[in-house]
Amino acid sequence: MARHLITSAIPYINGIKHLGNLVGSQLPADLFARYQRGRGHEVLFLCATDEHGTPAELAAAKAGQPVAEYCAEMHDVQAKIAQGFRLSFDHFGRSSSPQNQKLTQHFAGVLADRGLIREVSETQMYSPTDGRYLPDRYIEGTCPNCGFESARGDQCDNCTKQLDPVDLINPHSTISGATDLEMRETKHLYLRQSTMKDELEKWIDTREGWPVLTTSIAKKWLNDGDGLQDRGITRDLDWGVPVKKGDADWPGMEGKVFYVWFDAPIEYIACAQEWVDAGKGDDWSRWWRTDAGAEDVTYTQFMGKDNVPFHTLSFPATILGSGEPWKLVDYIKSFNYLNYEGGQFSTSRGRGVFMDQALEVLPSDYWRWWLLSHAPESSDAEFTWENFQASVNKDLSDVLGNFVSRVTKFCRSKFGEEVPAGGSYGPAEEALIAELTERLTAYQGHMDAIEVRKAAAELRAIWAAGNEYLQSAAPWAAFKEDPDRAAAIVRLSLNLIRLYAVLSAPFIPDTSDVLKEALKLDSLDWPEDLPEALNALAPGATFTVPENLFRKIADEEREDWQARFSGTRG
Ligand code: 2FM
Ligand code: ZN
Repeated sequence: MARHLITSAIPYINGIKHLGNLVGSQLPADLFARYQRGRGHEVLFLCATDEHGTPAELAAAKAGQPVAEYCAEMHDVQAKIAQGFRLSFDHFGRSSSPQNQKLTQHFAGVLADRGLIREVSETQMYSPTDGRYLPDRYIEGTCPNCGFESARGDQCDNCTKQLDPVDLINPHSTISGATDLEMRETKHLYLRQSTMKDELEKWIDTREGWPVLTTSIAKKWLNDGDGLQDRGITRDLDWGVPVKKGDADWPGMEGKVFYVWFDAPIEYIACAQEWVDAGKGDDWSRWWRTDAGAEDVTYTQFMGKDNVPFHTLSFPATILGSGEPWKLVDYIKSFNYLNYEGGQFSTSRGRGVFMDQALEVLPSDYWRWWLLSHAPESSDAEFTWENFQASVNKDLSDVLGNFVSRVTKFCRSKFGEEVPAGGSYGPAEEALIAELTERLTAYQGHMDAIEVRKAAAELRAIWAAGNEYLQSAAPWAAFKEDPDRAAAIVRLSLNLIRLYAVLSAPFIPDTSDVLKEALKLDSLDWPEDLPEALNALAPGATFTVPENLFRKIADEEREDWQARFSGTRG
C-alpha cells in the first residue's frame, strides 16, 4: 500500500470561487485522491482557505465586518460548497489557524538563524489620513507603464505589470481616497532566495516527468532578467501572522505581519496538524517529516499556472532553507485557465458561473464530468453552454445513463430483479473482456500520470464499449430463441454496471453511489483482475432498477442559463 499526500492550492477567502478556479486545483486534486483511495492506497488529502493579505481585509471592509468574523463565515460557506461538489478533503483547514501561525513563525526563526533572511529599510507610502501604510491593493493610481488609471499598488490589471506602490502616478488610498500620501522609511524582511538559486535549479532539473507547464514557469523565474530575486516576506498590515522569530519578538518588526504568500503554503503542513488536532488523525509527522516516515510518501500538489512560481521556488526555498527534514513535493500538476463563453471568468467582475450557482442549476456530477473531461491541461480551455449541453446529453445521458437503464429494465422484465443464471460467456464476451482489459490498463496509466482529459476519454470509451456490445449482442432478440444466451448477455451487462460504478467513482461519485446501491454492493473493489471482476455478480444476486441517472438538457433550458449567466453576478 502506497501513501499519497495530496494538496490543492488553497483558495482565497474573499468570495465564492468560479468554475475556472475549481477545475484548476480542487477538482482534479479530488479526482486523484479518490482514484488513489479506490486503488487501496493510503491518502491524506488537504485543502484550506487562504485568509490573510489585503484581499481578505478589503473584502471584510466591504462587507462591513471585522476581518476575523468575515473569514470565519466565509470559511464555512466555502466548506459547504466544497461538500456540494463532493470534494473529499480529509481536512479543510484555515491559514489563520494557531497551528499555522506558530509554524510560520518557526520557519522565519530558523531561516533567520541560518542567515537566509535580511532586513531591508525601504520607503513605503504612508497615509496620515488613514493612519497606516498602504501596501499592495490599499493604493491605486495611474500605471506608469500603460496609463491605466486604476492600477493597484502591486500590479496593473490592464497590462499585468508587477508594480511597487511608489511607482504609481497620482496615487490615492483605496480606503479613504486620501491623496496626501507621504513616503516613510520602514523596515522589512527579505528571504534570500537568490543565494539558493543553484540548489533550487538543481532540484528542479532532477524532477522527472514534471509537466512542461510547471518546469517552464519555474525556469523562467529562475533565469529571467537578473535571475531569482530575494522576496519581501513582511507587510505593514494588521491582519496576518505577526512577525516573530520563533517564539521571540523581532526587534524593529513590531506591528508587522508576514506576507500572505509566505504563510499560505506553510498551511499545507499546518493543515495536517489541524487534522490531528480535530481528532481526525493521530500523526501528522509521518506525512510531513522525513525523519518520521514521510520519505515513503508521494506528495502531489495541484494548482493553476499563476501559483507555480510560489510552489516551485518560494515554498521549496522555505523548506530547503530551513535545513530541517520536511517533505518536499514530488510532483506538481499545474493547469492553464478555463475561459467562459469567449472571455475570461472574473471574480472581481462577477463574470461566469460560480460554484454556488452551478449547484443551483444541476447536481455536481454533471459539472464534475464536464470540467474534468475538458480540463485546461495542454492549453487554455473554454466553457460554453452548447458544449456543456452536448457533453452531458451525449456522454452522461446517451452513453452511460442509457446503458444502465436498458440493462436493468430489460433484466427486470424478462428475468426479474436478480442476476440471471444460465448460458455462458462466448466469443463476443471474450472480445469485450479483451478490449476492456486493454482500456483499463490505459485508464489506470492516465490516472497514475494525472492526465485528466485522457483518463476521461478512456472512461468514456469504456462506457461506450458496453453500449456497443449490448447493441450488437441484442439480448431482446436472443431471448425469443435462446433465453440462456440472453441470460449470459444480461449477466455480463450487469457486471459491466458494477465495473462502471468502480471506475467512474473518481469522476462522478454520486452516480457511482447510486449504482452501488442499486446493485446492493457493500464495497467497490478496484478490478485488479478484469475477467474476475466481470464475474463478480453471481447468478441470484438481487438489484433494483435505479432512477434515471442523468436528465438531458433541453435547448430552451440551455438558452435560459446562457442568458442568466451572460452578465455579471448581482
Ligand atoms: O491563488 C490563490 O488562490 C492562492 N490563494 C493560492 C495559495 S496556494 C498555497 F500556496 F497556499
Ligand atoms: Zn498598466
